[in-house]
Amino acid sequence: MAKFKKIDPKKIYMNPFSDLDDTWMLITARAGEKINTMTASWGGFGVLWNKNVAYIFVRPQRYTRELIDKSDYFSLNFLDHELYKEELEYLGRASGRDEDKIAKAQLSVAYSSDVPYFKQADKVLICRKLSRQQITKDSFMEKQLAEENYPEDDYSIVYVGELEEFLSKEDQN
Ligand SMILES: Cc1cc2nc3c(=O)[nH]c(=O)nc-3n(C[C@H](O)[C@H](O)[C@H](O)COP(=O)(O)O)c2cc1C
Repeated sequence: MAKFKKIDPKKIYMNPFSDLDDTWMLITARAGEKINTMTASWGGFGVLWNKNVAYIFVRPQRYTRELIDKSDYFSLNFLDHELYKEELEYLGRASGRDEDKIAKAQLSVAYSSDVPYFKQADKVLICRKLSRQQITKDSFMEKQLAEENYPEDDYSIVYVGELEEFLSKEDQN
């Protein structure tokens, strides 16, 4: 398996539109011994508060949300969509509350300091939590968006993380 190397965030070649909407990411977090991951496609990357950041939208009922709340970090993992489509679908359907998803998907965990990520990823963003904000019904100018996306009023929590490390497989970029 190819090794990871650290890349300067300004040299990252990623397209948040295709990487998130078409190929998805795995949000991974750890609290003590517990590690969990979930598929996600809502979020983005950019500059905020003079820092390189990533932001993610996680619904309150996700088990991964519990672990993110207990941790100072989360990682965003981008895997080859063609190779790992089944795993990505499974990790976006099952809950880590009920089963060991990482073992079932046969993903191998590596660590950057104490932050878990997957050896199968091509690109990894290690993010340090900067802020957490609960969206509410009142957040929406366009009420229809709230109705369409949150019929059960399970409004997402927005986490902004500082991009502390960007890892890329050595045979990429
Ligand atoms: C393509 C795709 C994208 C998803 N994007 C998100 C997302 O951005 N935010 C979210 O809260 N859930 C999203 N989900 C749903 C979670 O991945 C799913 O509920 C998962 O089972 C949660 O796992 P957990 O309970 O182990 O955390 C997505 C699922 C799929 C298949």
